Amino acid sequence: MAYTFQPTLVANPKRSRILEYMSCNPKRIHSHQVNQYNSKSATDHFSSRIKSCLSIAGSWRFGKYGGRYVPETVISCLNKLEDEFNLAMADSNFQAELRTALRDYVGRETPLYLAQGLTDYYKNGNGEGPEIYLKREDLNYSGSYKINNVVAQALLAKRIGSKSVVTATGTGQHGVATAAICAKLSLECTVHMGTLDMEMQFSNILQMKLLGAQVKSVEGNFKDAISEAFRDWAGKMETSYYLCGTGVSPHPIPIMVREFQSVIGKETRRQSMEKWGGKPDVLIACVGSGSNAMGLFHEFLGDEEVRLIGVEAGGLGLDTGKHSATLARGEMGVYHGTMSYLLQDDEGQITAPYSIAISLQYPGVSPELSFLKDSGRAQFYSVTDKEALEAFEGLCRLEGIIPSLETSHALAFLGKICPTLSNGTKVVVNCSECGDKDLAKVFDIHHGLTK
Ligand SMILES: Cc1ncc(COP(=O)(O)O)c(C=O)c1O
Repeated sequence: MAYTFQPTLVANPKRSRILEYMSCNPKRIHSHQVNQYNSKSATDHFSSRIKSCLSIAGSWRFGKYGGRYVPETVISCLNKLEDEFNLAMADSNFQAELRTALRDYVGRETPLYLAQGLTDYYKNGNGEGPEIYLKREDLNYSGSYKINNVVAQALLAKRIGSKSVVTATGTGQHGVATAAICAKLSLECTVHMGTLDMEMQFSNILQMKLLGAQVKSVEGNFKDAISEAFRDWAGKMETSYYLCGTGVSPHPIPIMVREFQSVIGKETRRQSMEKWGGKPDVLIACVGSGSNAMGLFHEFLGDEEVRLIGVEAGGLGLDTGKHSATLARGEMGVYHGTMSYLLQDDEGQITAPYSIAISLQYPGVSPELSFLKDSGRAQFYSVTDKEALEAFEGLCRLEGIIPSLETSHALAFLGKICPTLSNGTKVVVNCSECGDKDLAKVFDIHHGLTK
């Protein structure tokens, strides 16, 4: 099948340079679903818009974001995927199978852990301050939240009758999780990985290979690996399944990934009720493409008193151009098949994202988070590499927990927000991943003893 996925296909509607391949079948979309965000002002109709976000499927868009910007040839596969996803979500057998896999294979539920060391550290001179909890996604099998979505999508792939899975990984965490579940379900697995990202990820590459995956190197980094995985899948769509690990892709993938990650927020709600008999006051997650943040936030979208805070990678500083703060500095555009905030230049071409945390180096972001930013329901901030490194060391020393550099961005924001919070405020930080993969890098930076 002749098909090329154009990674540089970036649309900037402001400059009317849009090259839209959107090919919706109007029969599949009800106009009220498409227009429900756009027809009303953000402030007047906030609640109904948030309710719309809560629906599992339906609209292709979150306000003006999302959609499908793909060649016509891919549309029927995405339609089929959407139908199968909706059937699976409504099937109690699939739900039971997924619950069992998450419990017995992944090791859920993950603890909601009172980080007493962090809590004490952020107390003011009067001994007052917020209570800080960590949602311990780092304790999942394979060391991160990635496996929640991976297990669910692999079960879906099996149910659809796919024989093989194609994916892309940044640091390798998503790749390891995918390789593991594919081994268990007897699915062939191909993982695309950027050459720049492969340099320091020897252990993850070895794990993927031991688990039977074929690891293919792609010139560049994470975004280039995604483009290549999509291209690879497009050549064998009938028998293969594209297992996306990010919140950025054509509809229905962002909704699927968010839905399969929303177990994080659902558990958090239950656990906070058990622990202190209420909801959290503040939720904090790092933002690369947005999937771990949406996984934590989604359950609480309708609870307007719960603050939702995403932390982007400020890299060397927002004014240096060396950052990955898409929501802070991006403009609306199309990338990897969806409309979202996007880091781009005046010509509408993407600009290279940068962060010390490899998996945060992504120029786009979840369309749903883009919508939540515009609506004001979630707030977004950034921290620099330096602040993330300090937070990395802080968690090691104060809690004996080694977080990833991605997770450290969320932790670093505690330094900014805690002094503003009243005594006893309940703050939950998504501890999205353990830091094993980052040890060499941190060691290198701090001690100059390697290389
Ligand atoms: C452990 C971890 N946390 C966070 C992220 C950021 O991605 P996202 O914003 O999609 O959760 C990644 C990306 O791969 C990751 O591996």
